Amino acid sequence: MRLQDKVAIVTGGGSGIGRGISLRLAADGATVVVADLDLDAADRVAAEIADLSGRATGVQVDVRKQDSVQAMVDATVDTYDGIDILVNNAGVGKIIPFFETTEADWDFMFDVNCKGVLFCSQAVAKVMIEQGRGGKIVNLASQAGRRGEALVLAYCASKACVISMTQSMALALAEHKINVNAVAPGIVDTPFWEEVDRQFATLLNMEIGEPKRTFTQSIPLGRIEQPEDVAGAVAFLASSDADYITQQCLNVDGGNWPS
Ligand SMILES: NC(=O)c1ccc[n+]([C@@H]2O[C@H](COP(=O)([O-])OP(=O)(O)OC[C@H]3O[C@@H](n4cnc5c(N)ncnc54)[C@H](O)[C@@H]3O)[C@@H](O)[C@H]2O)c1
Repeated sequence: MRLQDKVAIVTGGGSGIGRGISLRLAADGATVVVADLDLDAADRVAAEIADLSGRATGVQVDVRKQDSVQAMVDATVDTYDGIDILVNNAGVGKIIPFFETTEADWDFMFDVNCKGVLFCSQAVAKVMIEQGRGGKIVNLASQAGRRGEALVLAYCASKACVISMTQSMALALAEHKINVNAVAPGIVDTPFWEEVDRQFATLLNMEIGEPKRTFTQSIPLGRIEQPEDVAGAVAFLASSDADYITQQCLNVDGGNWPS
């Protein structure tokens, strides 16, 4: 199995894409620390993995807080004796027009989506450097980070920041054989997009479900994305098949965005 004997942390692993990534990394042989603000959700995913004969533990983390992130990393090292893979998946988003975007909205998205990526990557990279066997960091960007949207200013900016941070971290960590890459999903069928659909519906005066249907119709591959679609790309970037790939952001969006 491609990730046999690897230890992976997946933040936001209790729901949606993070759940899909946790299940996939475990199926590929990794031991998975499912880390989430919602401990019950993390424990449920860890139990699903155990039911499938995989190895996993649920851990509570708030990626916005450095002491909480350090506790997650320490618990992982204590239990599994190292870390090989970090997936910075925890993220939040809100659909808000330009003029209505408040400081609190901005902080909410940048604290989780950007500061969280920084804190988790710093804490895990220190362990990886000490271990001396390299590692893989995969960040969840978004097609929203590829271009602006009139109703999505702060979220788009936070995901563009993730793409930029991926490049800087890849350069900072290359000498330690730590590869840092990102994936940019499109419209993924998760609880996150249920909420996004409701917020677009209100702003665009549409029925609930209509924004999702409308946006999905323009996807070249003709269907909404599933967490498993993202998980396959993340598993590849977390594996030795991606040893010579770093600083990249891979679009995994059904062809929605060209570059
Ligand atoms: N769903 C999409 O269409 C889509 C598209 C592109 C990118 N993304 C990105 O993919 C990632 C996962 O999205 P999803 O759709 O699975 O969302 P989701 O809402 O289903 O899951 C997000 C998880 O992150 C956890 N979380 C939130 N704040 C946290 C914090 N401070 N500390 C730790 N955990 C926290 C939540 O508890 C939840 O379990 C996010 O980064 C999101 O921005 C999603």
